[in-house]
Amino acid sequence: MKKTLILFSTVDGHTTKICEEILKHLDHSTQCELRSIDDIDPGKLAGFDWIIIGASIRYGNHRKSVMDFMKTNQSILQQRGNAFFSVNAVARKPEKASPETNPYVVKFIDRIGWKPHLMAVFAGKIDYPRYNLFDKWAIRLIMTISKGPTDTSSSFEFTDWEKVKVFSANILAEQGKNEI
Ligand SMILES: Cc1cc2nc3c(=O)[nH]c(=O)nc-3n(C[C@H](O)[C@H](O)[C@H](O)COP(=O)(O)O)c2cc1C
Repeated sequence: MKKTLILFSTVDGHTTKICEEILKHLDHSTQCELRSIDDIDPGKLAGFDWIIIGASIRYGNHRKSVMDFMKTNQSILQQRGNAFFSVNAVARKPEKASPETNPYVVKFIDRIGWKPHLMAVFAGKIDYPRYNLFDKWAIRLIMTISKGPTDTSSSFEFTDWEKVKVFSANILAEQGKNEI
């Protein structure tokens, strides 16, 4: 059975939730392990057939640790099946919901200097009640400008779970192709 490592980079946990959903879809046909990208020992990567990385956006960027990880481990990642997805609020807009049209993913791929085999972009969650005062009002301003929800007493989940399922199915299909 193939071994798949699912790595998440998150601040508020929504990317982890998406990773858990992907794991649910893959788990019956591949042996999955879910870990934070900050905790994984790079020496362990060679023990996996597939590595999937999910990372959220905060103030315009994926966290630096994601960029560093993908640059430093480019060689081993490219020798394995690999997939990357980004989670951000801008992706709630259909015209910014693909790896080719989402500005953060376009910039990120340009910066790491290589293109993961499979990529996706998922709209995240705006969870006003959990943010500190600064973040709450900064996000509210971003939402006002981008015509998103501004009620700071509520949470708004934009994730299209069907899209997560399709991405998982694409990974499974690729894993199946390489089966001997
Ligand atoms: C402080 C803060 C800054 C954010 N900055 C951006 C941003 O610049 N662009 C964007 O599209 N989404 C932005 N978001 C939305 C997050 O990407 C979204 O909430 C995502 O679901 C967070 O995932 P996580 O819980 O895994 O960290 C921001 C969210 C917060 C709380």
